[in-house]
Amino acid sequence: MTLLLADITLTYPDGDGRLTALDRVGLEVPAGGLTAVVGPSGSGKSSLLAVAATLVTPDSGRVLVAGTDATGLSRADAAELRRRAIGIVFQQPNLLPSLTALEQLQVMAHLDGRRPREVRSRARDLLAEVGLADQAHRRPHQLSGGQRQRVNIARALMNEPKVLLVDEPTSALDHERGAEVLELIGGLTREWGTATVLVTHDRGQLGFADRVVEMVDGSLGSADLRGGVC
Ligand SMILES: Nc1ncnc2c1ncn2[C@@H]1O[C@H](COP(=O)(O)OP(=O)(O)OP(=O)(O)O)[C@@H](O)[C@H]1O
Ligand SMILES: [Mg+2]
Repeated sequence: MTLLLADITLTYPDGDGRLTALDRVGLEVPAGGLTAVVGPSGSGKSSLLAVAATLVTPDSGRVLVAGTDATGLSRADAAELRRRAIGIVFQQPNLLPSLTALEQLQVMAHLDGRRPREVRSRARDLLAEVGLADQAHRRPHQLSGGQRQRVNIARALMNEPKVLLVDEPTSALDHERGAEVLELIGGLTREWGTATVLVTHDRGQLGFADRVVEMVDGSLGSADLRGGVC
C-alpha cells in the first residue's frame, strides 16, 4: 500500500479542552488509486491531508508513505520524505509571480541536484501533459485560473511523487474548468501511478475516483453520492 493511515487521531487545542479533528481514521490508497474525500466544512478533510502530507503529527496512529513509517520522523526527515515522495496541491496555486510556468516547475527540482537539461525536459513534458505546452513562458498573471491550477498540479508532479494529495483544486474555478481539472488528476493518477487523495466539494463529478469516502465530524465512512453516509 503506497499510502496507509492507520487509526489516526488528531486533536487541536480549543479553549480549555481539545477539539478532535480526526477520530480514529483509517485510509489505504494503492499506487495508481484515487480516493476522493467529500464532507461538510470543518469535518476534518484538510486535517486528514495535512497528516498524510506529514505536515502535522497526529496524537496517535500510524502514517506510512511509500514504505516509510512517517510516524516519529524528525522535522528534517519528514521534509526530506515530502520532497522525495509527496506532491501537494492546495486550493490556491501559490505560484511565484515573477516566474514563468516552466520556471515554476524547474525550481522544484533544482534542490535535488538533478541536471538542468533533464529538469527542463521533464518540466516541458509535464506542462504538455496538463495542456499548457504553448503557455510555458507565461507568468501567473498571464494565465487563467484554470491554467494556474494546471501549473500547480504539474509542479506537484515534478519530483515524481508516490503520493499525490490534492485539497479542493476546483473551488476557484467554474463548473466546466473544475470538471476538466478533476479529470486531469484522474488521468495523471493512472498514468504516473500515484496514490492520490482528492478532497472536493464536487460530488457530481467523481466518476473517475476508485473510491469516495465521506468525512463527518472527524470520522470517515463510505459515501453514498445520492446523499448521506452508508
Ligand atoms: N490549526 C488549527 N487549530 C485549531 N483548530 C483547527 C486547526 N485547523 C483546523 N481546526 C479545526 O479542526 C476542524 C477540522 O478542520 P479542517 O480544516 O480539517 O476541515 P475541512 O473539512 O477541511 O473544512 P473545509 O471544507 O471548510 O475546508 C475544524 O473544526 C477546524 O476549526
Ligand atoms: Mg479544508
